[in-house]
Amino acid sequence: MSVVPRAGSGKVTVPEILSRKSYSRSGFSETKHLSGFPEAKQKITCLTAYDYPTARLVDEAGVDIILVGDSLGMVVLGYDNTLPVTIDDILYHTRAVRRATRHALLLADMPFGSFHVSLDDSVRNALRLVKEGGAEAVKVEGGERRIELIARLVEAEIPVVGHVGLTPQSVNALGGFHVQGKTEDAARQVERDARAVEAAGAFAVVLESMPREVAARITETLRIPTIGIGAGPDCDGQVLVLHDLVGLTAGHAPKFVRRYADLSSEISRAVSNFCADVRGGKFPSDAESYHSPAELHEHLPTRERT
Ligand code: KIV
Repeated sequence: MSVVPRAGSGKVTVPEILSRKSYSRSGFSETKHLSGFPEAKQKITCLTAYDYPTARLVDEAGVDIILVGDSLGMVVLGYDNTLPVTIDDILYHTRAVRRATRHALLLADMPFGSFHVSLDDSVRNALRLVKEGGAEAVKVEGGERRIELIARLVEAEIPVVGHVGLTPQSVNALGGFHVQGKTEDAARQVERDARAVEAAGAFAVVLESMPREVAARITETLRIPTIGIGAGPDCDGQVLVLHDLVGLTAGHAPKFVRRYADLSSEISRAVSNFCADVRGGKFPSDAESYHSPAELHEHLPTRERT
């Protein structure tokens, strides 16, 4: 079910994402331009998608990474948080997204509970996302605590994206969805977490909800790309939940969400118009109806057409 990357096909791959790291203080990915300054790399774009039609649109629009995030629990399944999402939920949606994704790298989230078991079971769960879902990489929330797990996944040749800062699966432990890294100690912890996932072998790390300054320092220090959400503009890339971006989520949106469209209003308007047209006898019209062949007209009783 997986898409085989071919050179020059435009397919985004793990090495391609790694090569998009902008200047890093550690020098690993520093490429100097003729000017002597580090070469500017194109920022990485990442959006969520959970089904075939939206994945197709996102892929065709040229996004680099499509994330089947466990945010699907809140965005499309209607839960209050991401904790109830299961590995089977992620698998089901990853398969649908796989069928639509040609260009982007397909990243699947490991949901709460799928990697809080033994390392062997955690690797088995991640393997399912790759083998049965067609994911090309998995994302795991948590920093220092995940060193062993990330190393095992990488050893099993499953590329991993880390996720530090606000990790929504820790909502109960954190007491809500709060910006992380706001004190000196907390900022140092987030930095340690990011360094830990890099050291364990992750090829990129999501930085969620933290002061811009903290994310900038991490981005400058790490050799792997950082992908921010609510972490300011200095990261190597940005990720958003598609439904937030197109205005399909209700209620208060976090300050980092930029709405590029208002699909809720568009859909409401279309549905109201449909109801009004059906009730008023305006839909379907004769042109929107099938017709019997003319030769049958004389044999079949017909009603007068509107
Ligand atoms: O589940 C998700 O959509 C995520 C992103 C917000 C990074 O983890």
